[in-house]
Amino acid sequence: MPLTGSFRTVSVLFLVHLMVLVVFTLQTAEARRLAAVNTTTSAFFVFGDSTVDSGNNNYIPTISRSNFSPYGKDLPDHIATGRFTNGKLVTDFLSSYAGIKDMIPPYLDPTLTVEDLKTGVCFASAGTGFDPLTAQINEVIPIQKQLKYFKEYKSRMEVEIGKEKTRRLISSAFFLISAGTNDFMVNYYGPTKIRSKTYNISGYQEFLLQQGQQLIQGLLGLGARKIGFVGLPPIGCVPAVITLNSDNALTHRGCIQRLSAVARRYNTLLQIKLAAIQKQIPAATIVYVDIFNPIDRMVRNPQQFGNNLRPIEIWCSD
Ligand SMILES: *[C@@H]1O[C@H](CO)[C@@H](O)[C@H](O)[C@H]1NC(C)=O
Ligand SMILES: *[C@@H]1O[C@H](CO)[C@@H](O)[C@H](O)[C@H]1NC(C)=O
Repeated sequence: MPLTGSFRTVSVLFLVHLMVLVVFTLQTAEARRLAAVNTTTSAFFVFGDSTVDSGNNNYIPTISRSNFSPYGKDLPDHIATGRFTNGKLVTDFLSSYAGIKDMIPPYLDPTLTVEDLKTGVCFASAGTGFDPLTAQINEVIPIQKQLKYFKEYKSRMEVEIGKEKTRRLISSAFFLISAGTNDFMVNYYGPTKIRSKTYNISGYQEFLLQQGQQLIQGLLGLGARKIGFVGLPPIGCVPAVITLNSDNALTHRGCIQRLSAVARRYNTLLQIKLAAIQKQIPAATIVYVDIFNPIDRMVRNPQQFGNNLRPIEIWCSD
């Protein structure tokens, strides 16, 4: 899909639910773009699922947790924080790159100070999706509730630092949204296949995109002006998906192309939708973040990314 004008694409590698492997590269052009954001952005807010949850699920009753070993084993103090990774999340790296702070804390952490809040927090919850039913299945925080938490955050900051400073903080902050994989993998194609009984796949994609659009519009309404929206990874290459869909999960570990094609189509529709929203709100910057192609490249050419990665961890090429 050719994209023009002020609509931009950023490429970042992301973790997918329950993957311990951390792979993160930022290409030079992207680092330059981030440097531009650097000068004006002083806070970073994050919405979504396990790809970006920095520990909110530690504070809610769910089994969708990662606050135990080996999670966190590569952090300086080797402590599992509730991030679904051995170290920092991509969003933590982005925050460091932008010179904001080293790691983005979970909003539900009751010990956060006003200083912590001022530079941004994470509202994400592992296991969630754009579909409220996905969050219900996993007993985690729906995306819609994450927006409510941000509203609550805004009111709290207005009391702490005043309305005008809060307005400026939010309008110069960077917002990142990363979710959607669980809607397909846990919900639509998951054990119960609930949504597949009422939606065909294009209908479901459209439903998710509408939910995503509502989140963007909610954020814009609360004063956000810089929003990055992450697309889907090649979901047919997620190890658990291969295991569940392969005729021999031990020997046949190729990606399930049929499922990755669903993600690709969703990403195309998402880019069209984001471009349309961008056109309506020229004062905002809405960016599509591509994780499909970087991960696809890694899956196809694992040796290019260092042969210290064991094949099973790089999702096996087809
Ligand atoms: C962003 O700014 C900080 C200082 O505020 C600097 O340390 C960091 O290297 C910058 N990042 C980029 C990508 O330019
Ligand atoms: C999917 O469902 C919608 C109605 O929700 C319908 O308009 C469309 O034709 C269906 N698509 C396919 C491929 O069956």
